[in-house]
Amino acid sequence: MNRLSHYSLVCEAPVVIPGPASRKLGEEICQHLGIEVTGLEMRRFSDSETFVKVLDNIRGRDVFIIQSTSTPTNDHVMELLLMLDAAHRASAARITAVIPYFGYARQDRKDQGRVALSAKLVANIITTAGADRVLTVDLHSGQIQGFFDIPVDHLQAGQVLVDYVQNSGLEDFIVVSPDVGNVKLARNYADMVHAPLAIVDKRRTAPNVSEVMSIIGDEDIPGRNVLIFDDMIDTAGTICNASHALRERGAKDVYALAVHGVLSGKALERLEASPIREVVLTNTISQVDRPLPEKIRVLSVAPLIAGAIERIHDHRSVSDLFQSMAR
Ligand code: R5P
Repeated sequence: MNRLSHYSLVCEAPVVIPGPASRKLGEEICQHLGIEVTGLEMRRFSDSETFVKVLDNIRGRDVFIIQSTSTPTNDHVMELLLMLDAAHRASAARITAVIPYFGYARQDRKDQGRVALSAKLVANIITTAGADRVLTVDLHSGQIQGFFDIPVDHLQAGQVLVDYVQNSGLEDFIVVSPDVGNVKLARNYADMVHAPLAIVDKRRTAPNVSEVMSIIGDEDIPGRNVLIFDDMIDTAGTICNASHALRERGAKDVYALAVHGVLSGKALERLEASPIREVVLTNTISQVDRPLPEKIRVLSVAPLIAGAIERIHDHRSVSDLFQSMAR
């Protein structure tokens, strides 16, 4: 970066362009930053190809494009790539892909022959499309950061969920990890809310299908409120199976808390029918277009992301924004 573009980077306000997957969140982020949303024209040709145009001059500016690669994942990935390319060709000085939910993260290793390493491929094409940096929230696995050869700021929205628990007046609870793979994260949550920890031993019988084998530490469950923390709720099989098993073992009320509400397939029906009293999610994935059952509450990560954008723009540390949570 030459001295002139460095000067314009820090002296002018950041430019925030929300994509269709994260429009509402992008608007909230702009409100927190005290700036206007930068307009974008996006339309489909009749053969379904996408046309993208940035509506304002962003030459020499510090640009943040907000787009989760949530369902419909392929469309949202392609839109993100086109927005990055448009910003690059419009001579932005620096482009940050802000991906509150990084979809395609689950295939992050070659665990069987002849499979695509989707997380790595998506990281590659985001960089090729013009991203200089990535800002994301609660990656499915922390090592995905290493798939990018550009700087990645990895935010953790756990504090948003913990603040909610601490302000809820809820007492006498135990934290439950919904599977063994999530134990480190759940232990962090347990430490943050000063509660004991139990662990569900979950077995995946097929993709998106799971069953509870046993619960480690179940002697602490009877009569207690249970907080199940997870990184995401997808089909809700994991969390609903766990909630049934926990109630069978004498849990009082069961609360499910997760950063990403993927909520695919029959997730909403399952959650509605489950013994879970309240489901707490964040808005890394937009839920504005679908009616949610009353028991689902959505908290905003806009202040967290706006804080990170401010710090990246001003070349300040991002890590002091959140308490580091091991995975
Ligand atoms: C598993 O590794 C994840 O942390 C979640 O537990 C899982 O992806 C949730 O999936 P589902 O809601 O479909 O059971």
